[in-house]
Amino acid sequence: METIGKILITEDEIADAVARMGREISADYDGKELLLVGILKGAFLTMADLARQITVPVEFDFMAVSSYGDATKSSGVVRILKDLDQEISNRHVVIVEDIVDTGLTLHYLLENLRVRQPASIEIAALLVKEGIQQIPIDVKYRGFDIPPDFVVGYGLDYTGLFRNLPYVSVLDPDNLPV
Ligand code: IMP
Repeated sequence: METIGKILITEDEIADAVARMGREISADYDGKELLLVGILKGAFLTMADLARQITVPVEFDFMAVSSYGDATKSSGVVRILKDLDQEISNRHVVIVEDIVDTGLTLHYLLENLRVRQPASIEIAALLVKEGIQQIPIDVKYRGFDIPPDFVVGYGLDYTGLFRNLPYVSVLDPDNLPV
């Protein structure tokens, strides 16, 4: 496959990190049932691979959100396009995200979900951009801390494309594909 941009994280490195996150979650929730909440669309690959590395009983639910803003910057104003199908009161919830950038999306989601009184709520994110969280977010399960560049692949898109890349690449903002 032709590569897009500079590869930042290879397929093998992603698999290793997701396996580690799965082991951490399995150990922490030993003896409990877990509800994984995937944030569409970007988290669909992380969710699918992470879930298969978790050994405790797991149910799935999804939310779809859209952040108002341009293609490469989040505005922090979040619109819920699809809410959870199930109640989460007294459930142990882990939100699965592709990337934490400004932290505004997760901050909004946490506020929104905490009101529903889950037994616990934590975050698993494959990527955390270093140094640019506008709101500090405690990401308990994290794959990689990455520089604050715009990345695509493994669920992450630029204008809807590149989510299917099995690796994570940096897109050069001065040389974006049309
Ligand atoms: P935040 O609210 O700034 O933390 O951004 C969260 C959302 O913006 C993520 O779930 C992604 O959908 C999107 N996003 C942030 N950074 C990137 C990136 O580098 N590439 C692709 N999407 C991104």
